Amino acid sequence: MNPTLPAAPGPIGVFDSGYGGLTILGKMREALPQYDYIYLGDNARTPYGTRSFEVVYQFTLQAVTKLFAMGCHLVILACNTASAKALRSIQINDLPHLDPSRRVLGVIRPTAECIGPLTRTRHIGVLATAGTIKSGSYPMEIHKLYPDITVHGEACPLWVPLVENNELMSLGTDYFVRQHVNRLLEQDARIDTVILGCTHYPLLLPKIEQYMPKRITIVTQGELVAASLEDYLRRHPEMDAACTRGGQCLYCTTEAVEKFTESASVFLKQAIDVRHISLE
Ligand code: DGL
Repeated sequence: MNPTLPAAPGPIGVFDSGYGGLTILGKMREALPQYDYIYLGDNARTPYGTRSFEVVYQFTLQAVTKLFAMGCHLVILACNTASAKALRSIQINDLPHLDPSRRVLGVIRPTAECIGPLTRTRHIGVLATAGTIKSGSYPMEIHKLYPDITVHGEACPLWVPLVENNELMSLGTDYFVRQHVNRLLEQDARIDTVILGCTHYPLLLPKIEQYMPKRITIVTQGELVAASLEDYLRRHPEMDAACTRGGQCLYCTTEAVEKFTESASVFLKQAIDVRHISLE
């Protein structure tokens, strides 16, 4: 990348450790169908949720560097774990060297922003990976905006592997969904709003709804992140001009193309163009 030459416009990059980011990409394409996108799933190294800060940071940096090299000026980390553990370091330490005109955005801030008006009891819960919960990013971001809200977290380490292995409807999934929903709610009977703080979890929504009491509002991130992206592009015309408009989407995976195509098409319900890439 030569920062002295203005780079040509390119697609919007969307990154996740696996298939979860497809739930975000889908809502982005519904809200902003005019843009081109590149989806990158690091399926060969998923899940990230149980990995250390340093490893998630290195893997995410590799993915961002790759998406920049593929022409993206704007990359969305459609992964809470990467947003929690890598986003700030990349924004502060790496972007200035990689290319100060490019941007990397995450999914935790836009989710935190919407919480204030949703909760009446001011007691909320977050279901997420162990990495996201341990990072404390949700309470931190929420308290910056709404210091009066009490935030409880519950790590659900098996939910991502269940989704990645397409076990959405199995009985084992019922067991683990019920277990973590109950553990979260046992922490505080006043919880009235629960954030699904992992982009894989909307794929488990039918099961989560089955075990979550009806009085609780479940927050999924897709629409929120799509609306936040729309707002960002409106406020940053220079970035908007750096995003190509052709309505195309290229899917890239670090796993075998056939494996990604088979699993992703279950979630996307359409034929897709998939390419294998290597990040190491
Ligand atoms: N979709 C990622 C997230 O939002 C899953 C992380 C993982 O790979 O464990 O956190």
